[in-house]
Parts: sequence; C-alpha cells; structure tokens
Amino acid sequence: MNENLDFFTQAKNLKSEFSQASQSLDKNQLDRAIEELRIAFLGRKGHVQSLFENLKSVPKEERPEAGKAVNELRGYLESEIEKLKKTALQSQLGKLLDKKPLDVSLPTEPIPGAIHPVNLMKNVILKEFRRLGFTVYDGPEVDLDFYNFSALNFPDDHPARDMQDTFFVNADKPTVLRTHTSNIQIHAMLNEKPPLRIVAPGRTFRCDSDLTHTPMFHQIEAFVVDRNISFAHMKGVIDQFLKAVYGNDLKTRLRPSFFPFVEPGAEVDMQCVSCRGKGCRICSQTGWLEIGGCGMIHPNVFESVGYDSEEFTGFAFGFGIDRMAMLKFGLNDLRTLFEGNSKFLAQFPINN
Ligand code: DAH
Repeated sequence: MNENLDFFTQAKNLKSEFSQASQSLDKNQLDRAIEELRIAFLGRKGHVQSLFENLKSVPKEERPEAGKAVNELRGYLESEIEKLKKTALQSQLGKLLDKKPLDVSLPTEPIPGAIHPVNLMKNVILKEFRRLGFTVYDGPEVDLDFYNFSALNFPDDHPARDMQDTFFVNADKPTVLRTHTSNIQIHAMLNEKPPLRIVAPGRTFRCDSDLTHTPMFHQIEAFVVDRNISFAHMKGVIDQFLKAVYGNDLKTRLRPSFFPFVEPGAEVDMQCVSCRGKGCRICSQTGWLEIGGCGMIHPNVFESVGYDSEEFTGFAFGFGIDRMAMLKFGLNDLRTLFEGNSKFLAQFPINN
C-alpha cells in the first residue's frame, strides 16, 4: 500500500484491488483461494489492518470520517467474502448434482471366488420355480414337533420320532432340528390363505452319517394349494423342473409310496443322468435314480391348518438338493460338499 497517497484514496484503491483479486481466484482450489484473499485483506496483518494503523497519520479533523470509511470498507469486504463463499458452495453442489447419479440397482462387478455347489444347485432350481410363478418361502430349522411331525399327520409312535432318527433339542416341550423341509408347509399354510404356490429350500437334520448320509443336508420343498389341483399338475411341475436342471430329454417316473402327509404318495425317479436309462454303475444298472417324494396333500394336513379339504386340494414334493448337486456335477462322495476343502470348492464358477 502506498502510504504517500491520501487515506481515502488508499481505501478506494483497496476496494478495487479486492474486486480484481476476487475475479482471478484459482477455480481449482476455490475454498483455499477465498481464504487466502480473506487473510490478505482482513487478516491480523492484512491491508485493512494497516489502513487502521495509518489512521494516525490522518489530520485530526478528518479522522472520524476516515475511521468511518475504513470500518465501512471492512464491513463491505467481509460481506463480499461471505458472498464468494456462498457462490463457491453452490457451484460445488451444482457439480455434484450434475454428476451421473449412482444407481445402486446396477449389477456389481463379478466378485472373485466360487459359489458352493449346493447353493449353485439351489439357485438353478429356484430360478425355474420362480419362472413357474412360485414364491420362495423360509421356515425355522429348530422347530416344534407340531410343525415337523404332528400337523403333517405323523402318528405319535411313528419311527421318525425315535431318538435314533431325529435330533431332539428339548424333550419337555418337544422341539426338534427339523428332519425335512415339509415343516414349511405347515408354517406357510397357517400364515397364508390359499391359493398357494410355494417353494422352500433349507437345511435339514437327521441322526445319520455314512457315505451317502450326513447329519445335516439340504432339501427343497414345493407345494401348491388351490381348487381343482390334480396329480397331473404335480407330475407336470416335477417333470418341468427336473428337465430345467438336467436337460429337456430327461424322463421322470412316479412309483407308489407312503408318506404320512400325502395321499396318494409316490417316489420320484428320474432317468439316470449318466447313462440316460441304459443302466450303469451310478444307477445300479436300473437306468433310474430315486430323487424325491411327492403326493397329494392329505386331508388331515389341511385340517390341522384349518383349510377346508372339501374345497381345496394340493400337491407337495420334496427333493434332496445335495443329491441333485452330486448328480449334476458328477460328485461321488456326499461328504465332499461339507468338508470345506477350498481346492474342491474353487472349481465351481461364480456366475451361474
Ligand atoms: N419330507 C419327505 C422326506 O424328507 C420328502 C417328501 C415326500 C416331501 C413326499 C413331500 C412329499 O412334500 O409329498 O423324506
């Protein structure tokens, strides 16, 4: 600042210096540039402060006016700085808003790794059921005897209720680790009104352990309840979903069998995936593989959930997901699915 100039000219010059400086701020670091400008003019050692110090040299009679002028200048510069800050903030916000919005519903980049073969199988099965209009349902793994047995028409002395077959959690208020996913039928029917078209995968538990049995395994249950549902509908759905998994040329057949919660009941066989019916080691030369159970929902089951068995009929079936995965991926030991061997698991693709 040129101290030889008259005080008022100095103040005036400062104002225009400020306005020039404020127009050539570094746009890439606007916040910082504004702060530097503030410090240069309004800081403790800034231009305005030196102007205050120069007041001393102003003749006494002009001093009040000069003091007023420098105060006004300070007020003006302060408000200009605030304006600059506001505009900077707005332009930053504007830039943010102009950016392409983040779409969280877009699919992610593929994640390196593998999906467990049981989940892979489950996903393939569920995809087909969703296509057929089924809703995916979940149910408890630790459940009351009522849902796992009684409501499904198991008599009190049924062998499945033995300690050798079932894990009991609490014998007083009979609680079990569910022995099948059929318990979800009861939960779903008690929670929902017919018509129902439900598929329910999940973990199941039995006291069993050898080459082809593990104490924990996976099942998938599917059931439909509506008016005029027939055995033919059931056969059609089973056929369709097995074809979706193993190929369109796959044949299936039903053999009469007994399960307390269905009448009539049947065992589901599919053509051997390996020899397609000719007979080989995998199917013990029969050409067929047993893969699940099915049947028309027993009127007693409808009664236990309060559905009118005169009005509604339905079918249900249950399949072993692990067995289906073994047959699909050509595995010969069920236990490999549950050993957690990362070399084995890494072979299964993530995108399926
Ligand atoms: N819950 C049976 C089991 O674990 C499988 C089964 C058979 C399910 C017949 C069904 C069915 O829904 O209708 O052995």
